[in-house]
Amino acid sequence: MNAFALCRADKAARAELEVLFPALKELSEPARTRTINALYTAIENSDFASYTDVPFSMNSTHYPLHRHINEVAALGLREYAFALEHWQDEWTAQIDREELLQLLLLHDVDKPLLLGASDAAAQRRLYCQHGVLGAMILRALEIPDRVAMLVSTHSPSAGMHTADPMAAILHYADLYSCDHIYMLVGRKPNYFL
Ligand SMILES: [Fe+2]
Ligand SMILES: [Fe+2]
Repeated sequence: MNAFALCRADKAARAELEVLFPALKELSEPARTRTINALYTAIENSDFASYTDVPFSMNSTHYPLHRHINEVAALGLREYAFALEHWQDEWTAQIDREELLQLLLLHDVDKPLLLGASDAAAQRRLYCQHGVLGAMILRALEIPDRVAMLVSTHSPSAGMHTADPMAAILHYADLYSCDHIYMLVGRKPNYFL
């Protein structure tokens, strides 16, 4: 079984994704095109016609995934700006802004493939842990190893985590957005678990 087929966004698809994910414009080439193609590959191989149709998760269908991704990108960049302004130390020096933004925008890239009602989506859920499938897409598109590895281990339920400042920035941005989504509908936030 092939989990996905690589897709390259044409001009129209690219323009649509740049509207939906405004932070893409902050990336330089070739990172921007590779990030767009990863997002495009995910939606094209999914059960959904557009990112606006993809929910945050199976249990949180009240909130769109693209909104969460934009929140994580904005929050993560603010964390980085704080570190630059107040810390400027060896921890901060390990952060590459371009790779960080790719990580923030792509951390949930496999969600469109794992969600949905088709047999293909159900089969992917059976075989592919969230994050790992995303990392496979990223490596196929020559996105840096560091970004792909951090995507593969970003989920709180992942078997291992990496002591990387970019992993920490993603973690807190991701869970801040996630807890807001959960608490809107009375679900327990992550810090209760
Ligand atoms: Fe995730
Ligand atoms: Fe997320």
